[in-house]
Amino acid sequence: MSFFPIEQAPPRLNRSELAVPGSQFNMFQKAADSDVDIIFLDLEDAVAPDEKEQARKNIIKALNEIDWGNKTMSIRINGLDTHYMYKDVVDIIEQAGERLDLVMIPKVGTAADVYAVDMIVTQVEDAMGYKKRIGFELIIETALGMQNVSEIAAASKRNESLHFGVADYAASTRARTTSIGGVHPDYSVLTDRVEGEPRQTHWGDMWHYAIARMVVAARANGLRPIDGPFGDFKDPDGFRAAAKRAAVLGCEGKWAIHPSQIQLANDVMSPSDAEILKANRILDAMADAEASGKGAVSLDGRLIDYASIKQAEVLVEKAKQIASQ
Ligand code: GLV
Ligand code: MG
Repeated sequence: MSFFPIEQAPPRLNRSELAVPGSQFNMFQKAADSDVDIIFLDLEDAVAPDEKEQARKNIIKALNEIDWGNKTMSIRINGLDTHYMYKDVVDIIEQAGERLDLVMIPKVGTAADVYAVDMIVTQVEDAMGYKKRIGFELIIETALGMQNVSEIAAASKRNESLHFGVADYAASTRARTTSIGGVHPDYSVLTDRVEGEPRQTHWGDMWHYAIARMVVAARANGLRPIDGPFGDFKDPDGFRAAAKRAAVLGCEGKWAIHPSQIQLANDVMSPSDAEILKANRILDAMADAEASGKGAVSLDGRLIDYASIKQAEVLVEKAKQIASQ
């Protein structure tokens, strides 16, 4: 282990995160009644300019009046380049800050963007005398944000998670696709020519680099890496495949842009019974190994060692967190 300590963000379940437009008050109760881990009430891209003010009012009313149970509540504020952002932060935290857990900052480009919002949030919290500190969720969804992702991840003690905003990221990098979070036939490998055999096309994951880079920056700073939207909500198989790819790379949650995606995300992002059983067997086998003075042993014909303990502990810890919900 490095001598450098990594402070972990507060341990919240973030398997699924539901996006709910702030202008759609009628959708709020259904979100509150769902099985989602985190809800973000959106003021940004799902809300038309003419509706920004009403959305802000809806969110204040809803945070104060709806019973959200034990859900983690977030708001996605407008970007720092708009004139809406300061009021999103000031009005909502002043008038409904007690029930707000997180603020999601879109299109973060530099560490200074996070610093600026931190300054405003701190002033409002102090002025209101709130004891609880609101955390930050940061969407990495521009070329600039991805370039500066490591500094952004370390920019504030409030930071809890990094989110891959695939739609804006595709626009910002001018990726030649219009789907949100899906794959693309042009991002594929054609197998070599072999006499008499048909050539095959293997589709690849065009988002691999971006997600992997974000995961590293998040984990190196003790934050949760979360995969963003999958636009085709009529394609549960496509969603599941995207969520699994993100999970394998280290993401611990995925957005739901439709209620039907909540259960899919919860399922993929929760360790299965078989995984938990295996993790417990690894911990038992390593405890036996240690008792007999060994640092590595074989389990089911495969080597396990001290690193396996850490992997198994992460799984068991997550299972406990889910069980205690
Ligand atoms: C999310 O905000 C996205 O742009 O994908
Ligand atoms: Mg976006």
